[in-house]
Amino acid sequence: MPAVEDPRYLNREQHFADAGVYRLDNDLALVQTVDFFTPVVDDPYMFGQIAAANSLSDVYAMGGKPLTALNLICFPSSCQPLEIMERILLGGFDKIQEAGATLIGGHSVEDPEPKYGLAVTGVVDPHQMITTAGARPGDRLVLTKPLGTGIITTALKGEIFTEREVQEAIRGMAALNAAASRAAVEQGASACTDITGFGLLGHLHELLLSSGIGARLESAAIPFYPGAREAADQGLIPGGAYRNLEYYQNYVQWLGDAALRDDTLILLADPQTSGGLLITVPPARLEAMLASLAQSGVTGWTIGTIEEAPAGTMIIV
Ligand code: CO
Ligand code: CO
Repeated sequence: MPAVEDPRYLNREQHFADAGVYRLDNDLALVQTVDFFTPVVDDPYMFGQIAAANSLSDVYAMGGKPLTALNLICFPSSCQPLEIMERILLGGFDKIQEAGATLIGGHSVEDPEPKYGLAVTGVVDPHQMITTAGARPGDRLVLTKPLGTGIITTALKGEIFTEREVQEAIRGMAALNAAASRAAVEQGASACTDITGFGLLGHLHELLLSSGIGARLESAAIPFYPGAREAADQGLIPGGAYRNLEYYQNYVQWLGDAALRDDTLILLADPQTSGGLLITVPPARLEAMLASLAQSGVTGWTIGTIEEAPAGTMIIV
């Protein structure tokens, strides 16, 4: 797309920004984002919650506070009962309420394949906004949700698992990143992003590129939802994981056990739905950050360290 010159568009240089930030005055900027996708679970109410949590996440990744949301829904109303659409929208509504935001409208389209998500508007103080560009050598990397939702939803579609068997991943996808975002702002995170379609490798790589630095990941410290490894072993891997890996493995230096390389990297490339925040925090703030997360009932996994290395490099041990 052509370059945009408007100086009020604060993150116009940040190509993989999670949301657009537009300055209104010195201490106030709008944070805007939109996201929608096809169902990842059968339960329409749960799908609504997951899609809404995912849409809200990009505001949280920048340290913003969501204010309003608009529904975007595609639905085959001629061949499926409207109650299903109602359940999807109710799931979204409840999640918007939980976020303390207000649903102020929306738009629906007749479509053979259902899709749902939100356009979200939030606010952030530009001085407190967290971008992907601030990571410094020595900062620790904290992840706030396990990985594996792409693999697990693929296994659900293949009826390898029931929704009951993978309820931890389903609950995780429906969880807001609100508390994690608050902790990141309060504890002085140097950079932050949320893990979605490009997987951990993709989103970490973009953060490192923006910050002009590299990182070391401790593969043994990276958490996965129950069922993810088993499903991956059975080959239930979404196409997006292979596409992510093909591109991002060019930036990986694998220093771990050679026998574990392929099985681990595909898990790290798995596209996530409504994934957690990946936060970089100065080492002196790590304990306070983990304590602050724990206080809000969020687990933070310390999965690596920012290191001097060519921009975007991911050294994995
Ligand atoms: Co994002
Ligand atoms: Co997004």
